[in-house]
Amino acid sequence: MTDNNQAERSFIPADVLNAAIMGNESSMNSLFNFLREHDPVSRVEHPDYEPFWSLTKYDDVKFIGSANEDFLSAPRTTLLPMEFEKMLMEMFGTRNGLETLIHMDKPKHLKLRKVSTDWFLPRSINKLELEIKALAKEFVDKMLDKGGSCDFVRDIAMYYPLRVILSILGLPRNSEETMLTLTQELFGGQDPALQRSEDMESGLSVLTDFGDFFNKVIEEKKINPADDLASVLANATVDGEPMNTLDQMSYFIITATAGHDTTSAAISGGMKALIDHPDQMKLLRDRPDLDMNAAKEMIRWTSPVRHMVRTATKDIELGGKHIKSGDNLALWYPAANRDPENFANPNVLDFTRDAKSQLAFGYGAHICLGQHLAALEVACFFRELLPRIEEIEMNGDPEWVQAIFVGGLKSLPIRYQIT
Ligand code: HEM
Repeated sequence: MTDNNQAERSFIPADVLNAAIMGNESSMNSLFNFLREHDPVSRVEHPDYEPFWSLTKYDDVKFIGSANEDFLSAPRTTLLPMEFEKMLMEMFGTRNGLETLIHMDKPKHLKLRKVSTDWFLPRSINKLELEIKALAKEFVDKMLDKGGSCDFVRDIAMYYPLRVILSILGLPRNSEETMLTLTQELFGGQDPALQRSEDMESGLSVLTDFGDFFNKVIEEKKINPADDLASVLANATVDGEPMNTLDQMSYFIITATAGHDTTSAAISGGMKALIDHPDQMKLLRDRPDLDMNAAKEMIRWTSPVRHMVRTATKDIELGGKHIKSGDNLALWYPAANRDPENFANPNVLDFTRDAKSQLAFGYGAHICLGQHLAALEVACFFRELLPRIEEIEMNGDPEWVQAIFVGGLKSLPIRYQIT
């Protein structure tokens, strides 16, 4: 079934910075379809941002994303208003603020990534399947206990991935609210409803609060190490020396935040996609063995991380445009994931398609460490849910987070009949 909301309309390249357009699946996909077709390597000029190139074709996004020697993640990793970058520069000495894995390049990136690579491998993550299944069951129980209707995002999808993160990090349940608030404030920075307040300085204080929270965890896990990711990070060595405190803290921040809003958005967007595509809902009910592939297709469909930025270290020609050394390039993953040259009928949700080649997790040296965990979380949830409900439908209008970095649903009112 096709997404019927994608009527052709006209856009300008700077619309990628318009959180109202980007903060809605339908207008975002229309914008990307337009840019991919008319100007796939487009120059974006906007008074609030440094100029950059916007890439919307699969091959370009994959090529630049994986040419990590020539296209660096530092010094600008995401698109931020210049004024905000200036404040980060004053506070942290970098435009990105706190330097985490996604902001780093070789050789430091490789050394730090190695600390947790084994922990995130499919064979390690598969060991967590029972734990994740139990959490999925707990949240499906919670949903059904609501008695036939709920706001799927606010009641379920926001909390389930968070509990998975708490569980893998080995953090107590009572950190749930703190983690939820901090993650939303960090990533929902452009959405007025999620901001800590209007001014940027208080936005920056979110980072400081995260730091304080994780410093306490690091101290605790040094004293009482356990079989969890937090203990791996707290006791890690780099070049034979204990990892320094700032790197540890930023590692916590990236593992805690990168896996929360993103997976929430994939699950809630996946739920909406199922409601919008009853044929695929039926297919998944009939063929539960498709669950992992369905999860990857939901992740392609939702592509919650909208972009990452790379900085060129040499001049190249791309799509007929001259990119100069020092230029910034924004890689738009939702656009790449609906490129008709790489996905047959990209605007059709299809749980039987080979969704492995999708780019929602990036590509190259920075490819998402949590990709197997994320897919498993999504798969476990729907595998538990579908046999336990008969019908499921919308019960009001969905609302979207107004953001250009990590996006997705803010509210999804649904009703359902319990089997
Ligand atoms: C559907 C869910 C998810 C999506 C769409 C997603 C997407 C991404 C993307 C696009 C990147 C950056 C790639 C680049 O710069 O080239 C990334 C990096 C990362 N992700 Fe995820 N992610 C998801 C879930 C998770 C989970 C569950 C975790 C862990 C708990 C996680 C941990 C990380 C980490 C640590 C990095 C940094 C890797 C590096 O720079 O080397 N992610 N993710």
